[in-house]
Amino acid sequence: MDLLHVALSGLWLMLPSLIPNPAAVIFGGGPPIDFGKSFRGKRILGDGKTWLGLIGGVSAGLSLGIIMLMIAFSFDPQDLWGFESCSRGFGIIFVLSFGSLLGDMGGSFIKRRLGIERGAKAPVLDQYDFLVGSIVLVVIFYPDWFINNFIVGERILSLITLIIAVPILHRIVNIIGYKLGKKSVSW
Ligand code: CTP
Ligand code: MG
Repeated sequence: MDLLHVALSGLWLMLPSLIPNPAAVIFGGGPPIDFGKSFRGKRILGDGKTWLGLIGGVSAGLSLGIIMLMIAFSFDPQDLWGFESCSRGFGIIFVLSFGSLLGDMGGSFIKRRLGIERGAKAPVLDQYDFLVGSIVLVVIFYPDWFINNFIVGERILSLITLIIAVPILHRIVNIIGYKLGKKSVSW
């Protein structure tokens, strides 16, 4: 496998982690996940984390993932382009999508504990919380899948590509969201 292919395959496999956050911006609204409750005087998560965002975001990640599995199946029924089999592939895309928004909630939880208001900037945390959430969950449930695709040998390049590409994609998507009036700030 040449190096460009390795780099791009990491982005492909992680697409179900990249989609839920922008989708949550579109579907979000209504009651917050923490139901307005506080912990030690500060909101647990804040008004930026809603049930509709969570459900819509996970559904979007799953929908895209299922389409990806179908495309991959038609070209590579043996390995589904790295998703291995229908059942494991479905498990992996679910864990990536859900982990993404779990990580996002973890990021907000930490921001609130640090006294950072909803929507205010938290460099690194804002860019990487969802990726860390997906990786932690997939390492718990599908460790060998993660190791084989993102760690061993030249595959480490997939992980490095993700670490470089994610803040750039985050920035682009947020500027688009801001211009569309979906986000009040451009970060
Ligand atoms: N969103 C949502 N539900 C989620 C995640 C996101 O409704 N589970 C929506 C909210 O409208 C949120 C927007 O997506 O304002 C952008 O998400 P994000 O930048 O993660 O939230 P912030 O509003 O910046 O809040 P925080 O400071 O907690 O990150
Ligand atoms: Mg934000």
